[in-house]
Amino acid sequence: MKPQNAESIMAPAILVTGGAGYVGSHTVMSMLERSESVEFEIVVVDNLSNAYRSEGQKKPAPLRIIEEMTGKNIHFYELDIRDKEGLDKIFAAHNIECVIHFAALKAVGESVEKPLEYYQANISGTCTLFEVMRDHGVYKLVYSSSCTVYGEPEKLPLDESHPTGRGLASPYGRSKYFCEEIMKDLCKSDPKWVVISLRYFNPVGAHHSGRIGEDPTGIPNNLMPFIAQVAVGRLKELVVFGDDYPTIDGTGVRDYIHVEDLAEGHVKAIKLFKDPAFSGFHAINLGTGTGYSVLQVVAAFERASGRRVARRAAARRAGDVAANYADAARARRLLAWRAARGLPDMCRDAWNWQSRHPHGFRDC
Ligand code: NAD
Ligand code: WQD
Repeated sequence: MKPQNAESIMAPAILVTGGAGYVGSHTVMSMLERSESVEFEIVVVDNLSNAYRSEGQKKPAPLRIIEEMTGKNIHFYELDIRDKEGLDKIFAAHNIECVIHFAALKAVGESVEKPLEYYQANISGTCTLFEVMRDHGVYKLVYSSSCTVYGEPEKLPLDESHPTGRGLASPYGRSKYFCEEIMKDLCKSDPKWVVISLRYFNPVGAHHSGRIGEDPTGIPNNLMPFIAQVAVGRLKELVVFGDDYPTIDGTGVRDYIHVEDLAEGHVKAIKLFKDPAFSGFHAINLGTGTGYSVLQVVAAFERASGRRVARRAAARRAGDVAANYADAARARRLLAWRAARGLPDMCRDAWNWQSRHPHGFRDC
């Protein structure tokens, strides 16, 4: 775990945990695509529990492709964020200025079966990371939070003042909520901490090049990758969970956000760290502000792909809410960010990625 040369010791760096995953890799791409980010080196830590690396390769597939596309180097460490000693060495080897913390387990259903694994990875891992940050004097953090912290909406759209932590349906959701509470406590304990907790709504789609995208292991839990795999012929039909919700057509409504818009939200968040007056804990929604039903997403995907998506209605999925969408005003105000891509773009790019790579990164 040595830096590659003396220069890399000095250059300011951004540490990206979980940077080989879906949102992390698109954020790394977004940072490296921009000329204004060249001032930073990118250091990725990922244990590859949910990222793919081809045999014989040193770097995971998405990072290798990003390097190819941008011509820029990414420092990659295969490491679990619970490995304090390992993290310590990485902080000692790079001039890390801030951290974007994506690394977590994220399958809601699995978290109900394996709560300890989820609390271990998502909470203990996060605390270990924070300890190492503090020990190295790094106090700037962007955290991957989720609209799941709001639980069952009391009113829509959801703004950041909506209560969090009430009636959460899974250990996964609680782990995101607990981490937010831990970060609030950190900010109270020491004014040097600056934390931006980005509450994502439903990230979907892929980089417009079609070269990186979402590559779930096993049968997808989420709607868009499931639809894409039906369209490409890997799965037989979509099971629509519930058609009796009080929504436009009875199916669940969500605020889908293009992963490139989401990634750009992180780039904007990092810029806030330049303002010395900006401090403390800030929760910010990243969503479009518009909700679409399951059937509206299916119809949009069929239009984008020219394929029919077979589906059948079934019972509601435990823990699902009827509708969920963001008030994105704070992101506009604080980050000068708004989602630029609509549902047709999300479906087009999800299809572009899926149709070029029916088996995800294994096809790269
Ligand atoms: P992902 O699984 O694709 O990426 C997470 C990455 O973290 C993976 O590459 C995985 O290998 C790595 N990882 C997991 N545990 C680790 C550990 N202990 N040490 C080191 N690396 C580890 O997931 P994603 O969709 O990119 O999500 C990224 C973050 O965003 C997560 O924190 C997730 O909770 C949050 N989030 C995701 C969504 C979503 O729908 N995708 C929505 C809201 C919030
Ligand atoms: C969307 C809609 C389903 C699959 C999850 C997490 C949340 C956050 C985002 C991380 C719902 C319906 C789905 C299927 C279906 N992740 N659906 N058939 O549940 O809104 O949010 O991802 O933080 O915490 O819970 O997303 O994509 O699973 O579902 O009918 O096979 O599609 O019922 O209405 P969800 P989703």
